[in-house]
Amino acid sequence: MSTSRNTVPDRGARAANFNPNTDVTTLAAPADVPESVVTLLDGSEVTIRVLRKEDAGLEREFIRNLSPESRWMRFLGQISEPGDALIRKLTELDYRRDMAFIALPRQGGVERAIGVSRYSLAPDGQSCECAVTVADAWQGKGLGTVLMRDLIDVARRRGIRSMFSIDANENERMRELARDLGFKRERDPGDATRVIHRLML
Ligand SMILES: CC(C)(COP(=O)(O)OP(=O)(O)OC[C@H]1O[C@@H](n2cnc3c(N)ncnc32)[C@H](O)[C@@H]1OP(=O)(O)O)[C@@H](O)C(=O)NCCC(=O)NCCS
Repeated sequence: MSTSRNTVPDRGARAANFNPNTDVTTLAAPADVPESVVTLLDGSEVTIRVLRKEDAGLEREFIRNLSPESRWMRFLGQISEPGDALIRKLTELDYRRDMAFIALPRQGGVERAIGVSRYSLAPDGQSCECAVTVADAWQGKGLGTVLMRDLIDVARRRGIRSMFSIDANENERMRELARDLGFKRERDPGDATRVIHRLML
């Protein structure tokens, strides 16, 4: 099992030999995952929908605006500036293997991303690796929970057996979120600084 979260967006695309320049059909967002509007704990309304290729700019700004701590927790290492290759991997998805949700506030005028959740099918075809990130100013309002629930729901409907996340030991917020969602926590056998949160679907 890989212990680099940076491989979440990579892995599915590589496993499927997916070429985003030629395989147009797989870029169409799935029709069976509707957009929804949720009310967060502070009363603000947020639209959640499938992340699409056209969201590249929103995704780039989202990562750029994360605090160093949130960025580190998400990518398990330093990503100073999200480059084009990373943004393509994060937004040009093969929805047969990958899924991602983006959260957008309904108030405020300017369109911006405030949360993203995603999974990518592992090479075994039975499990998927997930990641979730909420903009710093929006954390603690229930958005991470909603984004993960939507992701889990799709993974179940796709027949995936289990979902896992590789996280830093010290990531207390992810620990709480994962526990609340029913994930079990295990040591990462390959890296003592990390844990694996795993959910049977
Ligand atoms: C982990 C993360 C996604 C949680 O998102 P969130 O929107 O803040 O989560 P929620 O508001 O749904 O809260 C989930 C639980 O996390 C805990 N939590 C959330 N915000 C917290 C805060 N500011 N302080 C302490 N605990 C907090 C709470 O226990 C909460 O459960 P509760 O309902 O019992 O209060 C978010 O903190 C984040 O983006 N962190 C940086 C990236 C990251 O670490 N991603 C995870 C690995 S990919």
